[in-house]
Amino acid sequence: MKLRVLTGITTTGTPHLGNYVGAIRPAIAASLEPDVQSFFFLADYHALIKCDDPDRIERSRLEIAATWLAAGLDPHRVAFYRQSDIPETPELTWLLTCVTAKGLMNRAHAYKAATDVNEAAGEETDAGVTMGLFSYPILMAADILLFNAHRVPVGRDQVQHIEMARDIAQRFNHLFGQGHDLFVLPQAEVEESVATLPGLDGRKMSKSYDNTIPLFEGGPKALQAAVARIVTDSRLPGEPKDAEGTPLVTIHDAFATPAQRAAFRTALQAGLGWGEAKQQLVALVESQVGPMRERYAELMAHPERIEEVLEAGARKARAVAQPFLASLRRAVGLRPMLAAPPSFRSVESTAKAALPSFKQYREDDGRFFFKLAAADGRLLLQSRGLGDGREAGGWVKRLKTEGAAVLDLAPVALAEGVDRAAVEAALAALVAAQD
Ligand code: TRP
Repeated sequence: MKLRVLTGITTTGTPHLGNYVGAIRPAIAASLEPDVQSFFFLADYHALIKCDDPDRIERSRLEIAATWLAAGLDPHRVAFYRQSDIPETPELTWLLTCVTAKGLMNRAHAYKAATDVNEAAGEETDAGVTMGLFSYPILMAADILLFNAHRVPVGRDQVQHIEMARDIAQRFNHLFGQGHDLFVLPQAEVEESVATLPGLDGRKMSKSYDNTIPLFEGGPKALQAAVARIVTDSRLPGEPKDAEGTPLVTIHDAFATPAQRAAFRTALQAGLGWGEAKQQLVALVESQVGPMRERYAELMAHPERIEEVLEAGARKARAVAQPFLASLRRAVGLRPMLAAPPSFRSVESTAKAALPSFKQYREDDGRFFFKLAAADGRLLLQSRGLGDGREAGGWVKRLKTEGAAVLDLAPVALAEGVDRAAVEAALAALVAAQD
């Protein structure tokens, strides 16, 4: 499997510079690496947790989709979709909810922050807390695990959620994997240098602190106005400034080359005034953001183009999600009802029944056939009629010992509705059982 990179962005608010630096830019860069398969989505189900204003939800989804595309995301290279277009996500959320300890969710930062506020205010602990907020990390785990993502680029505030996704995945693997991991354990990826961009006041740039710098909104004027509000000390032009760690320098760092970073520090040390330094920052950011802003305006004028891109993205994502969710349903026991389900058989036969099996038979017309059934009895492969019983037996033997390598040579066809990956997995299980 190629390395899979996945990230979501909650569709509330209007994207700011912190979203760009912390999430969008690193994710797009990662999608350009060779040998990665990227999944980027609008976390609009997550948005519903925080926002009950339908018009804002609608507007924000559009703005954020346009932002990612304008920032250079290539929808042909990646799967770019809306979370709410993937019905497998809420379905998996439930399967995961059933194995997630409530105590784990009690420790989630977003929930704890809400209860802390309530307790400090003398309110009931859970006042105003919805089940959506409480189980937020499970929905997020489903987003990630559904695509077996290896790497998840996120801001530092999201690292705990990825760890929870790992915990939940491990528990699910343990309960239902029968020795094979169903889920990849995802890894958070925080871009160390600029993991969370500071806002105007030095705290994390966040809409809730009202300290953001807009990315596109308001044009260069709004950028200029926001940068003018970045807090600095009162040292005057001409005074040397050790600006290490100040918001101005940290934001500058996020857009500068190493040489530009060094030059900026040297200039401040040599007495560059804050006003002049801010002008340099505006010019630097605008040189990168300006061309994107033009593409953004063009896209916002054509929402139907964005809709088309997202629908195509959902088809791409569901091609992965649908067969995988089907296998997870089987793993937990949501299986077609068959004459003799494995769990009703004796203990000894259960061990055998856990493997797929071949069956050979002869039709009335004298021709020989064989077929492969999954462990749960579902038909996977059907042979053509063969004139010779030994030939049929020979193919069965080769498929059992050589597996998917002979799949294209053998006189067989996939059963209807069965995907090739499922057949390959079944053959792999048989090959493994030979040793
Ligand atoms: N909770 C994330 C945020 O607020 C967004 C998100 C939802 C996400 N699902 C995800 C991020 C899956 C990474 C992977 O930033």
